[in-house]
Amino acid sequence: MLDKIESLYASFQNEITPLDKQADVLNLKASYIGKKGSLAEVLKGLKDATPEERKAIGPRSNEIKKNIEQAIVDKLKDLEVKEINEKLEKNKIDISLRDSLMENGLQAAGTHPVHQIQRKIEDIFLSMGFEVLDGPHVEDEFHNFEALNIPETHPARDMQDTFWFADKKHLLRTHTSTIQIRGMEERKPPFAFVGPGKVFRCERTDTTHEMVFHQLEGMMVGKGINTGHLIYFMKTLLKEIFKKDMEVRLRPGYFPFVEPGFELDIRWKKPDPKDESAKHSGWLELLPCGMVHPNVLRAGGVDPDEYTGFAFGLGLDRLVMVNYQIEDIRHLHRGDLRFNEQFSFF
Ligand code: PHE
Repeated sequence: MLDKIESLYASFQNEITPLDKQADVLNLKASYIGKKGSLAEVLKGLKDATPEERKAIGPRSNEIKKNIEQAIVDKLKDLEVKEINEKLEKNKIDISLRDSLMENGLQAAGTHPVHQIQRKIEDIFLSMGFEVLDGPHVEDEFHNFEALNIPETHPARDMQDTFWFADKKHLLRTHTSTIQIRGMEERKPPFAFVGPGKVFRCERTDTTHEMVFHQLEGMMVGKGINTGHLIYFMKTLLKEIFKKDMEVRLRPGYFPFVEPGFELDIRWKKPDPKDESAKHSGWLELLPCGMVHPNVLRAGGVDPDEYTGFAFGLGLDRLVMVNYQIEDIRHLHRGDLRFNEQFSFF
């Protein structure tokens, strides 16, 4: 009987080695040490054994049973590790792919031009001591309208056709000016920050209008901040972007959250005066801006009797279009690699 048990153990060891499925391992376990397994079957003969034999068989069969249980546990663990490794291998990202694409003459598209310009402007402002802030795309009425001095009844709400959520309280932000409020709420003057990001308007698209586009908001608040500071920072920004001094002009512009409000235009020349396809020559409307309205400062927790500030909102898509002579804003969002490739950095 002891021989039978030993040979059973030996055949178990042979059978478990090649298994590679969890279910097969569990079946094997049942067939050897389950209630109706072969070990139990052999041990049925124990009742006919002599007391001597029993003494030997008892401990050995227990030992074998334990060994089998341990072997099963180990095997299941091995299979699990193997499975994880296989998954990792299968989902691995081949970081050499980009190089091999390039070697084969295929060009990988670079950073999107809107993001290139965004990063460039962020760097310009960071170097002047501004912070770069982020804000949510889904906003509430307060941050998008009310706090910006645009009450429910104000006609300016019509200026910005809005994607509202079903609760009629939340919306996709129509401008990055929301970041002015969020920025003020979290800091004490003096402070200065920019806030780039996507904005959303429910409008018909055409060559100059998109439902999703990008703005970069800017704000500086402190004691005695005035229009002179605003013009200085705007001129510095433009000089850094265009790599030369830009001629600018301020016209009055109306936005409920600034007083006075301006449209800042730049003098723009076609890169090639003979190129008739190239648009824009003369004054180009580029940068709405102004001194922050006292109501807006108050809504952001800043005392307007003590502090003043300026704010501006730069249209990033517009800037890219002007810079690269792109005639249709919709090219920017189509995701056509042939378009994006032209701006490849790498
Ligand atoms: N938020 C305004 C818009 O989207 C732009 C703006 C920003 C104007 C800051 C003035 C000051 O049209």
